[in-house]
Parts: sequence; C-alpha cells; structure tokens
Amino acid sequence: MSAGAIWIDGDLVPVADARISPLDNGFTVGDGVFESCTVVDGRPFALRRHLARLRRSAEVVGLEVPLSDEQLRAAALEVVAAGPARPAPEGAPLRLRITVTSGVGPGGSARGDAGPTVVVFCLPIAPRDEHAAVATVPWTRNERSAVVGAKTTSYAENAVALAEAVRRGAQEAVLANTQGDLCEGTGANVFVAVDGHLRTPPLSSGCLAGVTRELVLELVDVEVAPLPLLLLADADEAFLTSTTRGVQPIARVDDVVLAACPGPRTAEAAAALAALVAHDLDP
Ligand SMILES: Cc1ncc(COP(=O)(O)O)c(C=O)c1O
Repeated sequence: MSAGAIWIDGDLVPVADARISPLDNGFTVGDGVFESCTVVDGRPFALRRHLARLRRSAEVVGLEVPLSDEQLRAAALEVVAAGPARPAPEGAPLRLRITVTSGVGPGGSARGDAGPTVVVFCLPIAPRDEHAAVATVPWTRNERSAVVGAKTTSYAENAVALAEAVRRGAQEAVLANTQGDLCEGTGANVFVAVDGHLRTPPLSSGCLAGVTRELVLELVDVEVAPLPLLLLADADEAFLTSTTRGVQPIARVDDVVLAACPGPRTAEAAAALAALVAHDLDP
C-alpha cells in the first residue's frame, strides 16, 4: 500500500498536508471544471481526449487552464507514481482526477483575481456491479444551460438524482432534458437498442460529450438521434458508458426488466472497447 500524494498548483504534497483555501470558489460555489480518467498499467487512459475536454469545459465556463497539456500529463504521472490519495490494495483500479477551479474568490459568485487552483490526485475506483438497474428521475437536464457540455464541479444535481436512484434500489439515475428526450445519467451516457439498431442521444440533448461515448461511436455502428425518455423502458437492450464503468449493461429501467442483458449490441460495444484499451492507451 502506498501513502499517496496530491498535486496542488505545482507541488506534490503528502495527503495529510494537502490544503486549498476555504475561500476557493471551487469550494464555495462549485466554480470549476474537472476530468476523471482511469489508470491502466500505470498510465492514464485516453488522457489526450480528457485534456482536450478539460480545455473545452474551461472555455465554456470562461476559466483559464494555467498549464500546458505536457505539464498536466507530467503532473498526472507524478501523482500515479505516488499512489492513490486513499488507501487501496496493491493493483486496485484507479481513477485520476484533474480539477481546475477559478481559485480564491471574494465570496458569492464573483471571481477573484488570485488565479486558478489546479489539483490532481488519484483514488481507487469502487467496484461496480456487472449490470446496472437505472431509475428515471423527475428532474431535467437543461440543454440550454450556460454550462451545457462542460464537466463542471457543480454536481449537486447529480448527487441528488443519484441518491434518489439508490433509494429506489438502482445504481444510476437517468434524466430527460426539458423536451422530455433521453439525455444522460448522473455520471454516464446512455445507449439504447431497438430491433438491433443502436441509438444514443446527440450532444444537443444536453448530455456530456463522454469520452467513452465518443470511443463507442467510433467503434460500432450507432445512430446519434433524439429519443423520448419513455422509450428507454421499451428497449430490447441498453447500456451505460463512462470512464469508470466502461460499457455497463442495463438490466432494469424502473420496474421494467429489459429483454436482454447484455444483449448482442451491448456485448459488441463492450468487446470493441476492451480490445481498444488492450492495444492503445491513448486512442
Ligand atoms: C454527467 C456525465 N455524463 C457522462 C459521463 C461519461 O463521460 P466519460 O465517458 O468521459 O466518463 C460522465 C462522466 O463522469 C458524467 O459525469
């Protein structure tokens, strides 16, 4: 077991000594962006795509990422070498997280002039079930939000929706957008197959441009098109995608058990992603 360390604004510090200001806007108002990627064989998987999304997110919210991709990559490798910030068994799967906030602020939503805060650490990934039950929740994603498409640190909405799903015996919540179309989960994109035909919502639905979603779109035949949330329970098969779950088959939508789990299209996507990870760690 390794002691772990956290990288803060250029310094790698032991977890017990890691400090950011309580006045940081990332803490006070959730004004920040972040990325999570898995660590495979000591290397962050698909880091190039994750860094590109970090910059897109920062642009959407008007934040500056004060480091180059090379500097962020070097920080990531230092953190991975130092070990997870929470005790984990040797060889446990890890997630690397990079957070950039607007830094110390004056209080309220206004930004200060102290400059951004950048934090990098890795943590063990909690084991996931092989299949997921999902719960549709009554709250919506706003596809016209000021921060649509950005992976921001303001995840309270997701925390509330996920807690509701867990309360109902599910592992993930699925949200519609304001039009009633399927959007995404609290931490995952959603794919649905009807009559062997795979579909996923477009980015205009308000969903995050998931890196795993993007890879699956490149690997298998998928139609990107809006579909009503209500159709999810009518699917022959469906699956979630995310960095930490990869392709996770959906077994149940609310009280409806799907016909196949994993169905053939899910198995195809899972196999294609696994093959990619096995031969290319930065696709
Ligand atoms: C809201 C949301 N949608 C989708 C995803 C999936 O994205 P990725 O495949 O890049 O992990 C995430 C990832 O955590 C997320 O938070």
